[in-house]
Amino acid sequence: MPRKALIAANWKMFKTPAEAKAFVDAFLPLVAGHDRDEIALFPSPVLLPTVIEAAKGSNVAVGAQNIHFAEEGAYTGETSLNQLKAVGGTHTLIGHSERRQYFAETDEIVNKKLHTALKHGVVPVVCVGEVLAEREADKTADVLKTQIAGALVGITAEMAAPIVIAYEPVWAIGTGKTATPEMAVDAHKIIRAEVAKLLGAEVAAAVRILYGGSVKPDNATSLIGQEEIDGALVGGASLKPDSFAAIVKY
Ligand code: PGA
Repeated sequence: MPRKALIAANWKMFKTPAEAKAFVDAFLPLVAGHDRDEIALFPSPVLLPTVIEAAKGSNVAVGAQNIHFAEEGAYTGETSLNQLKAVGGTHTLIGHSERRQYFAETDEIVNKKLHTALKHGVVPVVCVGEVLAEREADKTADVLKTQIAGALVGITAEMAAPIVIAYEPVWAIGTGKTATPEMAVDAHKIIRAEVAKLLGAEVAAAVRILYGGSVKPDNATSLIGQEEIDGALVGGASLKPDSFAAIVKY
C-alpha cells in the first residue's frame, strides 16, 4: 500500500485570528479537490477555533503545535487533549525541536505526550532531528535512534498505526539550508529501520515519515518526490496561502 503523503503547516507563533481566517479563506480554493495528499494546519492554540471553523467541511485538517500529557490539572499555559478535541482539533505536533530547545522537552516527555495523544485518537506528528554539532560529529544516526526509541517506549504495534514521524534536521529549520534529498532519504531510512526494530516490519512499512526544514515551493518536489519521504512539515513557507498551496501541489 503506498503511503499517502501529509503536507503540514507549522505556523509557530505567527498570525492573529483575522490573519488566520484570511489565510484559510484564500487557501481552500487553491487546494479544493486535492486528495492526492492529506493537508493539515498547525496554528497557535488561540487560533484553533477560528481556523477549525473556517476549514470546516474542507479537505484541510487542523491540529495543535503542542499538547500536555496530563488529562487536566494545574498546568498554567498548557492545552489538554480534551480541550483540543472539544474545539475540533484532530492532530498534534509532539516534540518539535523548538519545544525541545526552548521548553526543555525530553524524549521522556515526548513519550508521555504520544501515549496521551494515541489514547485520545488524535494523530500525533512526532518530530525528531539532529543539531548541527551532532551531524558534524557523525552522530546523526545515534541521535535519531535514541529519539525514536525514547518516543516509542511502551508503544505496541497495535497502537502505532496513527503515528506520523517528522524528520527535521535542526540546522535546516528556518535557516534556508535544506537537507539534500540524499541526506533526508538516508535519515528516513535510519528512522524506518529503528521503527522496524521496535515495532516490526509491517508498522515500519506503513509509518509516514515527513521531512521538515526550509521546505519551499522550489525544493518541495525534489524532497517529497522521493519514495522514502512521505510529506513535509513546513514552517516559514506555510504562512502564505499561495506558497503553501504550491508545496501541497508539488
Ligand atoms: P521551516 O520550519 O520550514 O521554517 O524551516 C520547519 C519547522 O520548524 O517545522
